[in-house]
Amino acid sequence: MDKFKDRIRDFWNKKPCGTFGIIPENVDRDYFDNIKKRRYRLEPFIGEIAGFNKLKGKKVLEIGCGVGTDGVEFARSGAYYTGIDASLNSLELAKKNFEFNDLRPNLQLADAEALPFPDNAFDFIYSWGVLHHTPDMVKAINEVYRVLKPGGSFCVMLYNRYSLVGLQLYFFYGLLRLNPFISLNRLFYEHHESPGTKAITDKEARLFFKDFRNIEVKNIVTPYDIRISHNHYWPKFVAYFIPSILGFFKVITGEK
Ligand SMILES: C[S@@+](CC[C@H](N)C(=O)[O-])C[C@H]1O[C@@H](n2cnc3c(N)ncnc32)[C@H](O)[C@@H]1O
Repeated sequence: MDKFKDRIRDFWNKKPCGTFGIIPENVDRDYFDNIKKRRYRLEPFIGEIAGFNKLKGKKVLEIGCGVGTDGVEFARSGAYYTGIDASLNSLELAKKNFEFNDLRPNLQLADAEALPFPDNAFDFIYSWGVLHHTPDMVKAINEVYRVLKPGGSFCVMLYNRYSLVGLQLYFFYGLLRLNPFISLNRLFYEHHESPGTKAITDKEARLFFKDFRNIEVKNIVTPYDIRISHNHYWPKFVAYFIPSILGFFKVITGEK
């Protein structure tokens, strides 16, 4: 199992999230500005869902902070921010990103399945597109529960199995490869980002987060659902015609 985690870590060390095409030697303020611009152009809904500016003075933990793009927004808004990630390269970039913004957060190399924090430590836990990459996702969700304070809340984004992205995977790696009986679980596992990626249903989301209170599960149609090629998308308005149930992002919120 640890060997498998090494493969996942290697993947994110080679391709820290959101950095595609930009080499580490070029790391400067513009580098992070470009990552940020691209991120919030493609995922403009993040700020409102994450509630960046509602957490002043609160202890916020981000699990899988990547290069720190959202973390900077939490910290800039006055949250006491802690970010963890399993990828050292991502964390080193995150550190520079915070430094360019004159912010001094607590960043740690850690595993979502065994968080290095005591019980009931955080007011808010945030994790965007991360927990489906770890081999034991339910163990990681139980860790969210453990380190969240009673009354605290969380926001976790996981991938939605029956989404248009799932359909694209099925088209390219199932139908075009003459493998029509392959399951969506296997397609995500083998062909989406790091090895072993999972994508879940609403029912599974409610089951995995059953220990929390006031659970809400909401799907969001993303540009990735209406992708023409790797870096080209249909115009944004196309997304309005697609039922949200088919959206790739499944955002789960709730309280302990
Ligand atoms: C898709 S990226 C998302 C990063 C960031 N949340 C963002 O949206 O830009 C997935 C991240 O999860 C991290 N990750 C994967 N497995 C992990 C684990 N078991 N513990 C901590 N981080 C993990 C990877 O290193 C990577 O940075």
